[in-house]
Amino acid sequence: MVPESAQQATRTVADRISRVPASPTLKIAAKAKAMVAEGIDVIDLSVGEPDFATPDHIKEAAKRAIDENFTKYTANTGVPELRQAIANRLRDDHGIDYAIEEIIVSPGAKSCLYNLCGAILNAGEEVILPAPYWVSYPAQIALANGSAVILPTREENGFRMTPDEFRAARTHRTKAVIINNPSNPTGTAYSREDLQELAETMAEEGIFIIADEIYEKLVYGDFQFTSIAALGPKVKERTILINGVSKAYSMTGWRIGYAAGPRDVIGAMARIQSHSTSNAASISQMAALEAIRGPQGDVQQMLAEFQKRRDFMLRKVRSIPAVSCVEPRGAFYLFPNVSAYYGKEHDGTQIRDSQAMAYFLLNIAKVAVVPGDAFGADDFIRLSYSTSMEKIEEAMRRIADAMSSL
Ligand SMILES: Cc1ncc(COP(=O)(O)O)c(C=O)c1O
Repeated sequence: MVPESAQQATRTVADRISRVPASPTLKIAAKAKAMVAEGIDVIDLSVGEPDFATPDHIKEAAKRAIDENFTKYTANTGVPELRQAIANRLRDDHGIDYAIEEIIVSPGAKSCLYNLCGAILNAGEEVILPAPYWVSYPAQIALANGSAVILPTREENGFRMTPDEFRAARTHRTKAVIINNPSNPTGTAYSREDLQELAETMAEEGIFIIADEIYEKLVYGDFQFTSIAALGPKVKERTILINGVSKAYSMTGWRIGYAAGPRDVIGAMARIQSHSTSNAASISQMAALEAIRGPQGDVQQMLAEFQKRRDFMLRKVRSIPAVSCVEPRGAFYLFPNVSAYYGKEHDGTQIRDSQAMAYFLLNIAKVAVVPGDAFGADDFIRLSYSTSMEKIEEAMRRIADAMSSL
């Protein structure tokens, strides 16, 4: 007879799943979808991807790959030509040298991060995670049986982690720290000066620096992006860069991300990948090769449009009474503080937190936003400006009207 504990094991999902938070945004997103299906004109400011088409020259490269029957398995870590193109770009853009054995291509940056957590974390080891953070980091750490140590950053400091804050969060169990530069959801980006002392402090601790730089190309005005790995050999040897083509080239559906870092770590990630997804799609790799190696004019055009929208939206958000908003230097999100409205009532219901605020804006303004608690910062909501200027204008008018009624 099978013992009771074994019977239990056969019909329950793994314990680690309970450590992965259910997406707090799913219910709101589902409601927004249902409203649209009913014919209600909802403006969606919750999007996490560029609204532009993938540039034609990139699509052509993919079509060529199909016509030339480049449709089979590739090397597990990616086509050598693509890995070389990534190495060349890192050298040309940031002055950092990587051998192709130090680079892996995966089905999206998300997949790189997942493999990386699996490659470096033993059970219970800690990862310092500055908040506001991108939603998938805590889940990925938990899935690798690691432990996320949330380090709240301050709005007054532009949401940048300081060396002192980092030191205070460090324990003997710290294995890594995540720095998402520029950041989703805040748009915060670290200048070279901001980064230098922080990077040296982190490297001195001998832990891994996980640097998610997927928004590196989307920075505004005269801000100059600096890759953390460019801050000297000591920093580089502790750093794993995470990047990809999703955001810069409007290629979210193609699923190509990459990581660059120490050979042993990349090798461990490759081992996981070889038994899970295997190589990223061959056709997408050829498209990514064209994106990375080909003309970069489309990125500049997209950036100019994003900048116009950012400037407009920021002005409108800041003109709403009692709302503050840090000027984002990168990505395509605003992260306004709406907590002055918490405690106010609408139709007899109190708006107590970011979830309630998001529901209020969806029901009354017919605008979908993401509540800040999804990013570990409940005083805020995230607005994406990855939609047309026309829609942004209308959405901001509706949000301002709705909030003035509170
Ligand atoms: C900060 C950050 N990192 C990584 C990703 C994942 O990108 P990919 O499409 O390459 O998996 C996203 C996508 O939303 C992101 O915002």
